[in-house]
Amino acid sequence: SKPLKIAIAGLGTVGVGVIKIIEQHNDMIAARAGRAIEVVAVSASNRSRDRGIDITAYDWADNALDFAERDDVDLVVEVIGGSDGVAKELAQQSLEQGKSFVTANKALIAHHGAELAEIAQNNGVALRFEAAVAGGIPIIKSIGEGLAANKLTEVHGILNGTTNYMLTQMEATGKDYGEILEETKLLGYLEADPSLDLDGIDAGHKLAILSSVAFGVKTNFENVYMEGIRRIKLLDIEYAKELGYRIKLLGISRLSEQGLEQRVHPCMVPRSAPIAHVDNGFNAVVVQGDYIDRTFYEGRGAGEGPTASAVVADIIDVARGHNGSAFFVPQHLMQDVPPIDISDR
Ligand code: HSE
Repeated sequence: SKPLKIAIAGLGTVGVGVIKIIEQHNDMIAARAGRAIEVVAVSASNRSRDRGIDITAYDWADNALDFAERDDVDLVVEVIGGSDGVAKELAQQSLEQGKSFVTANKALIAHHGAELAEIAQNNGVALRFEAAVAGGIPIIKSIGEGLAANKLTEVHGILNGTTNYMLTQMEATGKDYGEILEETKLLGYLEADPSLDLDGIDAGHKLAILSSVAFGVKTNFENVYMEGIRRIKLLDIEYAKELGYRIKLLGISRLSEQGLEQRVHPCMVPRSAPIAHVDNGFNAVVVQGDYIDRTFYEGRGAGEGPTASAVVADIIDVARGHNGSAFFVPQHLMQDVPPIDISDR
């Protein structure tokens, strides 16, 4: 059958990773997808920057929005970032023009996932965002497909690798928050807006997406309670250790008769829990449901390889002919569950 033609918007770490995987695993991917995947065009803010790969074989677009209009593009990959602006316009226009859309953009999906899913449904194309949550862990597919027989009751996890790295390093080195923050900045691990990591907002975005996929509720980022790691002192970590605990920034989402509870904050986790031993840049997710009891996933939550791996898996999914959104439940069947406010507890 015909190759799936894709355009990539954004040539940062993830965009470059996607191109590398598609080039290096070309034959294997074609066999698994049942057809070839062909990159036809790319776009980024700077054309000539050395990225360690040759992009001259691909058409260049100064404006990524051009992809939505191209007849020879079946699928647009967005790895620019940001909840609004170009990313959102590109998503809307691509889907409206009947192109599938694959993104790693957690802010975009946390804020606008519901409306984008509707556009995808109405146009018979796919909206996929595996890379938006927990990078290399295929958690969206695990929940939405693998666990689809279960009524899920709780999802929790370490959803931000940068802050997990910082907490791990504070404990390992005995350095205080400020010193580790400086080191983490120098390593380039922080988001362009560090508040996204440090204040739990990035984890909040991912949690809102997980809640929606797990419970079939509309994404509700506005009601996620968020508190980051800025107030964690070395002393807190050391006291916790003496008592047999480790401090982890967790995202927790629970669905009950009372409503939907979504929270991100530092937690004391007993050393007996597997999640207490997930360190540095790794993420972990625990999912509980009526027939599975509990499942546990661990993997790298960020970086070129793990994130690009998730993006390419989504592209392969679309190449196999799967349409619709990765929320799996159509938006009109999603429940409107009242949020539980935990801010006064
Ligand atoms: N800043 C994010 C993290 C990147 O540290 O997990 C991956 O989403």
